Amino acid sequence: MQDLLTHNPIIPVITLHREEDAVPLAQCLISAGFKTIEITLRTDYAATGIKLIRKQFPDLIIGAGTICSTRQVSQAEALGCDFMVSPGITPDLLKCAAESPIPLLPGISSASEIMLGLQLGYETFKFFPAESLGGIRTLKALFGPFREVRFCATGGITLNNMGDYLNLPNVLSVGGSWMVNPSLIKQQKWSDIEQLLKTALVAASAPINYQPTRA
Ligand code: 3PG
Repeated sequence: MQDLLTHNPIIPVITLHREEDAVPLAQCLISAGFKTIEITLRTDYAATGIKLIRKQFPDLIIGAGTICSTRQVSQAEALGCDFMVSPGITPDLLKCAAESPIPLLPGISSASEIMLGLQLGYETFKFFPAESLGGIRTLKALFGPFREVRFCATGGITLNNMGDYLNLPNVLSVGGSWMVNPSLIKQQKWSDIEQLLKTALVAASAPINYQPTRA
């Protein structure tokens, strides 16, 4: 999981509300330069969307997001996903995913949850919802007791704050939905989405020096 995050410092988190958006949206992501995406299993269109994208773009690395149950672990496996992301953890989910051929990025929101994850063999976590949990300050504090642990921060990440997250020693990657804005998807504004995606990717590759342009 650490390799995947290191090679993908920014991961778009996509929620599909219509089947017909799946392929054009994936095309935007690929044209913008993304190799890895997360599609949340939050809507009725997620499974069909993943199948369509998988068929059309077999090389795209697809994560199944919002994995909340062991049943969804089986669903992600059946859909041929490459990795899984959960918003939180349960002991059952962690144990089930540890036996899955697909790696899980488990969501945590506290030191105790990190300790439970470590006990079950996980060292890489999604820190969610990052901004609501104190963001940068909390991640800095967690670096004290958990020096070996690495995070993908998600929840409230934007173009303006992503660089600060990526500069932290314990953050390998950030995830977010802002560059796959639901209202732009609804309006099928593919070129606007592609532009947002490109801007995000440039920012992620130069987080230390990046200064967003403010209109
Ligand atoms: C999520 O699982 O909802 C993601 O972490 C995305 O969060 P965001 O919509 O705040 O970017």
